Amino acid sequence: MRNHELGATVVEAVGLKTHFKLGGGVIAALSGQPAKTAKALDGVDIEIRSGEVLGLVGESGCGKSTLGMTLVRMHEPTAGDVKFKGASITNITGSKLKDFRADAQIIFQDPYSSLNPRLTIGEIVNEPLHIHRKGTSEARRAKVREALSHVRLPPDEFEHRYPADLSGGQRQRVAIARALVLDPDFIVCDEPVSMLDVSVQAGVLSILDELSRDLGLAVLYISHDIATVGYICDRIAVMYLGRVVEQGPVREVMRRPKHPYTQNLIRAIPNSDPLIRRDRVTLEGDVPTPINTPPGCRFASRCRHVEQICRDQEPDLLSAGDQSLARCHLYGVLAAKLDTELRLKITSGETT
Ligand SMILES: Nc1ncnc2c1ncn2[C@@H]1O[C@H](COP(=O)(O)OP(=O)(O)OP(=O)(O)O)[C@@H](O)[C@H]1O
Ligand code: SF4
Ligand SMILES: [Mg+2]
Repeated sequence: MRNHELGATVVEAVGLKTHFKLGGGVIAALSGQPAKTAKALDGVDIEIRSGEVLGLVGESGCGKSTLGMTLVRMHEPTAGDVKFKGASITNITGSKLKDFRADAQIIFQDPYSSLNPRLTIGEIVNEPLHIHRKGTSEARRAKVREALSHVRLPPDEFEHRYPADLSGGQRQRVAIARALVLDPDFIVCDEPVSMLDVSVQAGVLSILDELSRDLGLAVLYISHDIATVGYICDRIAVMYLGRVVEQGPVREVMRRPKHPYTQNLIRAIPNSDPLIRRDRVTLEGDVPTPINTPPGCRFASRCRHVEQICRDQEPDLLSAGDQSLARCHLYGVLAAKLDTELRLKITSGETT
């Protein structure tokens, strides 16, 4: 587990919503079907500080990638705001947007399709400097070599090679070097190791860990695998159907999960070794979709503690002890109804 000082807030999402309109073409209009909306993000509040890795977990389709992409303005939010170093970036355009795009980078999971096979590694890492017209060609070369060194690819050995000559882990390091070369303050890593062999995952994770500490980067680390998140993150945010349902220090969320959904996720970890490859977690129960979100608590259809109030009223993110927040009535109006023994079991993460 990580243990170091964190800096100032770099990125903040405030009531962030990203909705996608679905269908709605000519055929839908002729048949009188109303257009549908997928509420991929439906009111997310998070912040990430300098030197911090925030882990973002949750089942497939809960909105993790949409959040990562909205934070770097690859998606336009439907409502709410993204603040970068204190200033809103939601409506910026022109040179301000260009500067923000240099400062906020994103790395995707597939190191095979993300690198141009016709360019050398040196040219690939140089591309962002070229696009942003940074420095002389000597200065750029020095920057490229520095970025390759940061990801532990000795420049003399790798600068002139092609992606086809590299392993998956090495390619992902090139993708990280390319993201680093513009000296960003914020990097979104969307499942950066999920396509890599278990044997090389640890190397990539330890580079991300080192970079956030040494360069003071704010990192959003997205993963379906809550165990690898525990390995490199400072805090964890758990998403369910477009909303954060639990947030807290990694140690607490892993050891004493507060929300019944997080408790299910942790219980589904089959092995204590965080670097064993795992399939996507599938939990039992009827999963609602972001097209048709139920009123009240979104987890109600799968929760064994459900009460009528859960179906009627969506809980806020409530203080649940141990510096954790949970979007669950068990930490609010339902707390008084639980007998002491059950309350202790739930809050210590023992039961679901
Ligand atoms: N461009 C889009 N147009 C329409 N719907 C979208 C679009 N992008 C995402 N969605 C929908 O939004 C929801 C959230 O998708 P998202 O990709 O953010 O999930 P995720 O948590 O990253 O899932 P995974 O773990 O599978 O990567 C899904 O229901 C998805 O179908
Ligand atoms: S609010 Fe109710 S249904 Fe939702 S997680 Fe808490 S106890 Fe379960
Ligand atoms: Mg995704």
